[in-house]
Amino acid sequence: MHPNPIAAPLARSLHRRRALAALGALPALLTGCAASGSGDEVWRPWVGRGGKDVMWVPTLDAVVMPMLEMAAVRSDDIVYDLGSGDGKIPIWAARRFGVRAVGIEYDAKLSELAQRNAARAGVTDRVRMIRGDIFVEDFSSATVLTLYLGQALNLRLRPIILAMQPGTRVVSNNFDMEHWEPDRTVRIEAQNPLFLWIVPARVAGAWTVDGLPDAASATLRLTQTFQKVEGTLEADGRRLGRVDGRLDGERITLAIRSSDGSARQVQARAVGDVLTGTVGEGPARPFSARRAR
Ligand SMILES: C[S@@+](CC[C@H](N)C(=O)[O-])C[C@H]1O[C@@H](n2cnc3c(N)ncnc32)[C@H](O)[C@@H]1O
Repeated sequence: MHPNPIAAPLARSLHRRRALAALGALPALLTGCAASGSGDEVWRPWVGRGGKDVMWVPTLDAVVMPMLEMAAVRSDDIVYDLGSGDGKIPIWAARRFGVRAVGIEYDAKLSELAQRNAARAGVTDRVRMIRGDIFVEDFSSATVLTLYLGQALNLRLRPIILAMQPGTRVVSNNFDMEHWEPDRTVRIEAQNPLFLWIVPARVAGAWTVDGLPDAASATLRLTQTFQKVEGTLEADGRRLGRVDGRLDGERITLAIRSSDGSARQVQARAVGDVLTGTVGEGPARPFSARRAR
């Protein structure tokens, strides 16, 4: 990689340096790796070009595939890159995985460049570039989201993401979601960390559990903090156990610990108002619960 003649003056500006450093781009920029090689004969963007809520710094080529692989992209996925810049992530997703992919980018010139890049890559049948605001456009059909936006924007997006279909995978380059801990973190050599979250099913509340060996009908009360759950199992006004567990999309694992020290594990799927799976201390038995009204 060669030092970038366009980016170098930016790096000399303290304001830009701080902003780029906040995006985790400065080390790459100083070695020229964040150089914009994405322009064409119509227009060449410059790294650090002001965006609506965050400036444009492209994800490094070496990081694009690890982001998509971390999300375990499959050919039936719909990948959205929020703040898609020159469109590199949707274009790579379509080329490498054959998926349908969408970029949402506020900057009209970047969005137009992304459209031309998609045409040059021969993926316009699978890739759509939307010129719009990520806080206005609907991306609820995404099964995979990619982000390189900064923590403040991640946190503004967090409630929208948490309302998405359980199991949606979200990968963020460099920036976390504060108290929503990632389900996985990887670091590729000297690059920024990458974070993966899987949107958890929403299970907080009371559930009626039928058919446990020690209670014909019991109440499971759960509180939920992102992918972590805890609560109690009760029957006839007495506590059968304390519960803690974790969600992986729709999959829920609960450990129920009784006061006598015994423990049993529930493995279930949470789909709408029903939990279905198995419970066992030894041989697993069927387990089902429905949301209490
Ligand atoms: C750091 S760049 C990442 C570009 C691309 N996702 C990538 O990884 O190469 C962030 C992008 O978000 C865009 N952006 C900022 N605020 C936005 C908003 N509210 N809606 C849509 N795009 C936005 C910027 O113009 C910029 O292109």
